[in-house]
Amino acid sequence: MQEEPPKIPDQETLEKELSDYLSKKYGYRIKVVSPIMAPQPKEPQPTPPEYGGIEGIRFDMKPEELEDYLNQYVVRQDESKAVLATKICTHYNRIKYLRRRARFGSEQMVGRIKNNILLIGPTGVGKTYLVKLIAQKLGVPFVKGDATKFSETGYVGGDVEDLVRELVIQADDDIELAEHGIIYIDEIDKIRSYGRSSGPDVGGEGVQQSLLKILEGKKATVPVKQGGAKGWQQEFVEMDTTNILFICGGSFAGIEEIIGRRLGKSEIGFGAGVSSKNNMTVGETLAMVQTEDLIRFGFIPEFVGRLPIVTVFSELTEDDLVRILTEPKDALVKQFQKLFEMEGVNLCFTTGALRSVARKSLERKSGARGLRAILEDALLDVQFELPSKIWVRECVVDENTIESEGSIPPEFISDLYGEERRIAAY
Ligand SMILES: Nc1ncnc2c1ncn2[C@@H]1O[C@H](COP(=O)(O)OP(=O)(O)OP(=O)(O)O)[C@@H](O)[C@H]1O
Ligand SMILES: [Mg+2]
Repeated sequence: MQEEPPKIPDQETLEKELSDYLSKKYGYRIKVVSPIMAPQPKEPQPTPPEYGGIEGIRFDMKPEELEDYLNQYVVRQDESKAVLATKICTHYNRIKYLRRRARFGSEQMVGRIKNNILLIGPTGVGKTYLVKLIAQKLGVPFVKGDATKFSETGYVGGDVEDLVRELVIQADDDIELAEHGIIYIDEIDKIRSYGRSSGPDVGGEGVQQSLLKILEGKKATVPVKQGGAKGWQQEFVEMDTTNILFICGGSFAGIEEIIGRRLGKSEIGFGAGVSSKNNMTVGETLAMVQTEDLIRFGFIPEFVGRLPIVTVFSELTEDDLVRILTEPKDALVKQFQKLFEMEGVNLCFTTGALRSVARKSLERKSGARGLRAILEDALLDVQFELPSKIWVRECVVDENTIESEGSIPPEFISDLYGEERRIAAY
């Protein structure tokens, strides 16, 4: 009788056996890491969107559940998290309810006011990020547009239709899913009107007027791909944008003065951010924004009326930025540590280093957006050299490396015997 050939184990078992053998021979520090098994570096986004069509939308998500999810990724902005979670969940709950009613009764889905939302706050504090996270969690497509584009052309219709088309692409040509998407329009404050005293007001009131209808929803014609006998063809279909949620965001620089004047205080502090007269920070003043301030800032009442929910994002402090570096599920420090781990190196940052990264980002006035670039700059040289420095087991980054943008290298630590870290890696 012929002997059965030994069964070949799977990749993981093979690596484990190989690892065990090498460890026995050369010591416990030897590990076999294959590129397939090694963790891959990730973009800051959490789980990539997986759309399950209209059936995949979480219509009945509870605000609390959504807020818990947001808390895993976003530092501070508690009020905005609560407002967005509540209002967006309500929007989708209501669609579900009306869909059911429409299915079982004869009632038409009419007469609704959409909960379009306005986000106010400085750059890089999480406005777009929050909306994107929510869209991902709910399983709805999300696109972001820029209102500055509208003010350049003075023509909104085409641009917004482009965004609707983009939603269809995001939804992989699933029209019904795209009809439930979220469109985020950034820099909405750039279409403020400065009044008509100095000639025609192309970028302001006119643009706001044309946005009105779109915010409420209308029909749009969009191209979709259709498979046919002659291969892929383009076809146009009509799409209902009634259920698309519009969220507008902007920094509204200077609106705190308008609010301050209304509150009867003549001066709201910049610079240190604190007013000498009334001790109100810019953030505290902003939080008191009302419809009339937005109108005075340069928005027509009808436009403000279409954005019934306003929430203010706060400026991030140095402490907040340090937390953002380390706490979120996909925090930058964790991402870099993963990268170094692939090289078999333990990466640490001193508290001073983290503070220094946060301070630098504050100086750049880019909120949390600046953090990644600062870390990349400081660690580029190290990442270049590490693969050759195979005795390094640990890399400790302090503020000198950050301040010098990587010119002063971090501290490299080898193990007790100065042995090389990888023999059988890769
Ligand atoms: N509060 C926060 N918590 C965690 N990460 C944050 C926070 N704010 C910003 N970030 C990080 O900074 C990046 C940029 O933030 P985001 O795009 O939300 O800025 P924004 O507020 O929309 O600014 P802008 O007005 O310039 O569009 C995000 O992708 C995220 O990684
Ligand atoms: Mg943004």
